[in-house]
Amino acid sequence: MSYYERHVFFCLNQRTNGEGSCADHNAQAAFDHCKSRVKQLGLAGKGGVRVNKAGCLDRCAGGPVAVVYPEDVWYSWVDQGDIDEIVESHLRDGQVVERLVLPDNVGR
Ligand code: FES
Repeated sequence: MSYYERHVFFCLNQRTNGEGSCADHNAQAAFDHCKSRVKQLGLAGKGGVRVNKAGCLDRCAGGPVAVVYPEDVWYSWVDQGDIDEIVESHLRDGQVVERLVLPDNVGR
């Protein structure tokens, strides 16, 4: 059995060389909101959900991006409502939010 039921990694990378990066799309705010909602819903911790920061996940063209394991589902989003939907549908209820899934062909 896994220590966490689900583990989410948010790319918070900020590039300074002029190339786009997730931090240009409010990734920190989405991360903070996700972490806060997971706690509010009592999902955080062992046997539950862990939300972690990550550096570049090399899928920058789809930024902002996050990945949920163990399902290996990649998401991109527009606003906090999208994050709420990911938290409640996928992280809590195990239902992937298909409309926010990052297409497989999006890379760097
Ligand atoms: S900057 Fe976020 S995936 Fe590369």
